[in-house]
Amino acid sequence: MMTSTPSASSAPSALPTQTQQWVLASRPKGMPTAENFRLETVDLPELADGQILVSNTVATVDPYMRGRMNDVKSYIPPFQIDQPLTGGAVGTVVASKSEKFAVGDAVRHSFGWQTHAVVNADEATPVDLNLAPAHAYLGILGLTGLTAYAGLTAVGEMKEGDTVFVSGAAGAVGSAVGQIAKHLGAARVIGSAGSDEKVARLLELGFDAAFNYHDGPVADSLADAAPNGIDFYFDNVGGEHLEAAIGAMNDFGRAALCGAISQYNATERPAGPKNLVLAIGKCLTLRGFVLGHYLHLAQEFQATIAPLVVSGEIKYDVTTRHGIENMPAAFLELFSGGNTGKMVVEF
Ligand SMILES: NC(=O)c1ccc[n+]([C@@H]2O[C@H](COP(=O)([O-])OP(=O)(O)OC[C@H]3O[C@@H](n4cnc5c(N)ncnc54)[C@H](OP(=O)(O)O)[C@@H]3O)[C@@H](O)[C@H]2O)c1
Repeated sequence: MMTSTPSASSAPSALPTQTQQWVLASRPKGMPTAENFRLETVDLPELADGQILVSNTVATVDPYMRGRMNDVKSYIPPFQIDQPLTGGAVGTVVASKSEKFAVGDAVRHSFGWQTHAVVNADEATPVDLNLAPAHAYLGILGLTGLTAYAGLTAVGEMKEGDTVFVSGAAGAVGSAVGQIAKHLGAARVIGSAGSDEKVARLLELGFDAAFNYHDGPVADSLADAAPNGIDFYFDNVGGEHLEAAIGAMNDFGRAALCGAISQYNATERPAGPKNLVLAIGKCLTLRGFVLGHYLHLAQEFQATIAPLVVSGEIKYDVTTRHGIENMPAAFLELFSGGNTGKMVVEF
């Protein structure tokens, strides 16, 4: 991992004048390595009218960031070489030239991967740390929870009485999917995850069945867990999981294609799913989505699901790593199952 040495701040004021930030040093081929990242210390720009200076306390790492490291056209622009990486963060306002925020306010914004950020006040959202801890606003009460809700409802049109299967079930989105599906009236919820500890946790969270996908072919484990088939599949993983789900789907089954993490570091185009032809005879609906098209559901989510999170009825796990210097390592852990629930980095 390449790092540059922070230079001492010469400013007399107590306000920070520099930030430590991660930049993309080079584009990964396959699984990223430490050499693809570089930690730099740079001067912060002067605050302009309408801006705030935020001292970040916690930042998120997410699987989608891997896609942004490739130089390809996608639903979101790629990260640029030698430019800062970005992503969600929560922090405290330490200086303000905006009427919207005062010093001491807690805000969420999208300039993570750095210790301090100058943010346009219009691009920051207030968060209430009396209601929930900062990391919750990067996960279950943030885009993660909304992804789960949107995928189940508007995208996949889950119905009461459905048997629901979710992959990546012990992760941030997946664990929310299972619990929200139950709340929406699923008859049976099944999850897959990468360790026996995660499987045990899913059962604690109220999943009716769960399996470790390392134990054997996913299709076999799914057939055992869902002897009458599945009606809804929430896909976080792709590949073998998607193929198994198509095979297990009942007529008129629906799938919300949210992610395909098993393929994000692939260096060759993956084969399959090889059984897509089954979608015709079973009249299946397989619908991909990106959350950006479903942000209008945020209010509905706040009204219906967020109170269940605050009351503790819907639970969430957080895996925390510490220190800006450990951010790339925390990001890489997403691809080896290092997290249960949301992975965040505290500064
Ligand atoms: N469409 C959208 O708008 C949208 C929004 C948010 C997230 N997503 C997608 O949703 C999925 C979940 O995101 P998240 O933030 O909740 O991440 P996450 O599930 O908290 O973390 C990633 C998890 O994926 C699992 N994993 C890694 N490599 C795997 C592989 N080869 N095969 C099977 N599982 C693997 C690991 O758990 P195990 O130990 O179980 O392997 C890991 O903990 C990702 O695919 C992400 O890209 C999409």
